[in-house]
Amino acid sequence: MIKNKFIEKIIIIDYGSQFTQLIARKIRELGVYSEIINFNQIENLKKSHLIKGIILSGGPLTITNKNSSSLSSYIIKLNIPILGICYGHQILAKKFGGKVKISKKREFGHAIVKSKSKSTITKNFFKKKNNTVWMSHQDIVSKLPAGFKKIASSNNSKYAIIANEKREYYGIQFHPEVSHTQNGKILIKNFLFSICKIKKTWNLKRQKEILILNIKEKVKNNKVICALSGGVDSSVVALLLKKAIGNKLTCIFINTGLLRKNEEHEVLKNFKKKLKLKIIYIDASKIFTKRLKNIVNPEKKRKIIGKLFIQLFEKHAKKIRKVKFLAQGTLYPDLIESKTVTGSPSSKIKSHHNVGGLPKKMNLSLVEPLSSLFKDEVRKLGQELSLPKELLLRHPFPGPGLAIRIPGKITIEKIDILKEADFIFTNELKKTRLYNKIWQAYAALLPLKTVGVMGDKRTYEYTCLLRAVTSEDGMTADFYSFDKNFFQNVSNKIINSVNGINRVVYDITSKPPSTIELE
Ligand code: XMP
Repeated sequence: MIKNKFIEKIIIIDYGSQFTQLIARKIRELGVYSEIINFNQIENLKKSHLIKGIILSGGPLTITNKNSSSLSSYIIKLNIPILGICYGHQILAKKFGGKVKISKKREFGHAIVKSKSKSTITKNFFKKKNNTVWMSHQDIVSKLPAGFKKIASSNNSKYAIIANEKREYYGIQFHPEVSHTQNGKILIKNFLFSICKIKKTWNLKRQKEILILNIKEKVKNNKVICALSGGVDSSVVALLLKKAIGNKLTCIFINTGLLRKNEEHEVLKNFKKKLKLKIIYIDASKIFTKRLKNIVNPEKKRKIIGKLFIQLFEKHAKKIRKVKFLAQGTLYPDLIESKTVTGSPSSKIKSHHNVGGLPKKMNLSLVEPLSSLFKDEVRKLGQELSLPKELLLRHPFPGPGLAIRIPGKITIEKIDILKEADFIFTNELKKTRLYNKIWQAYAALLPLKTVGVMGDKRTYEYTCLLRAVTSEDGMTADFYSFDKNFFQNVSNKIINSVNGINRVVYDITSKPPSTIELE
């Protein structure tokens, strides 16, 4: 987490919501600094004039279960404004004598909330007394707590927004932090500036300075190796480290054999020439394909790759004396899907190789300066660090590379086929200027052979799946709608020039329910 001891802040208490970092992100966008702490660590929070407000996150727990955590009295004693969201709203209500019950109807997705009375928190929020918001709950507040009034209701939540204006306590049943809530940011803005009266002190320059300072504090005089993938995240990490520790940094770039066509040459050229980084290149393609032979289970693939990465980093770190740290470009969405970030209860989706895929025992300590940021924020930071445009705008590429785009067994033949198909797809996106409109696009090779006909001959070959999505932060995504000409052109080019593929399909699922990658 980005840490700062000197400026005014909002404390977010995390009860395990998948959206907690989105709250932090919205606050950053409004020019304010915030810190997230786990609900178990509330008592470690020191009273300070710099803490201007508390936000209680949502979470998967139910307060109707006796063992679930209630709102700690310690928070109340701090005597500063509180905003509870979803689970946070329910525990706030319960603390002051309200009732929470399991509703017969679940409320997931869009809902309309209606204004019932005026409040500082809802200033400029409603349009004609209505608003569309994003709900995700089953428990509801069924009795208003003492001292609170009803500000807004939805069909299923009579107390969708409640307020105790005197004590400056506010509860919101829906999620103002997600983009699906219309004007959600206005609620957060009102809380920050009209209620907490916090100053705007947060910007990219400050973020950069603090990240550099945090790295210096953490690594002290030790040497650091940085796992470079060639993508924007690890490039930004390398630039931050270079500024923080200068020549104590060595970058290591591993060719897993699972990179895209020509990628290793491009990465080396960019990093040596443009960014002037000290870089060690390791061609480990043979060992990666050997260890992945016959592995089908996606989680196993990820673990094998994660372990091998670390083994190689450790082996090469030994050659540079006094290396204690391994830096990598882990982002917040990587963490949230692999494990819980603050130790709060949220559920695991997949082991991102640079997180959950790591072995339990490691000789190097991790430095992950971007672990509370989202991709688009990292791109902005990259711009602040003068990262060249072509690097800034590169689509994300996962650490396990093509391995997770070849469901089933991985063979060199399949990797080679996929590299060609992916190259064609990406080139067409660039030629038609669609590349920068799309968050991420790639080709995958399905473990499925079907019958086709080419030049009057029967073929029996693999199916290539194309995926292209738009997204703000990788947490949710929509598939991109190409026109027929584009599809036709790409499909023709792939079929005509890649041996081994006789069918091309397009993935039309969003995230959720799918994920962006296949495994
Ligand atoms: P999913 O598939 O989880 O992907 O919807 C979300 C974003 O994360 C990238 N991704 C990874 N990045 N290591 C990474 O560095 C990984 O193991 C990994 N798995 C997925 C994915 O490409 C997408 O941008």
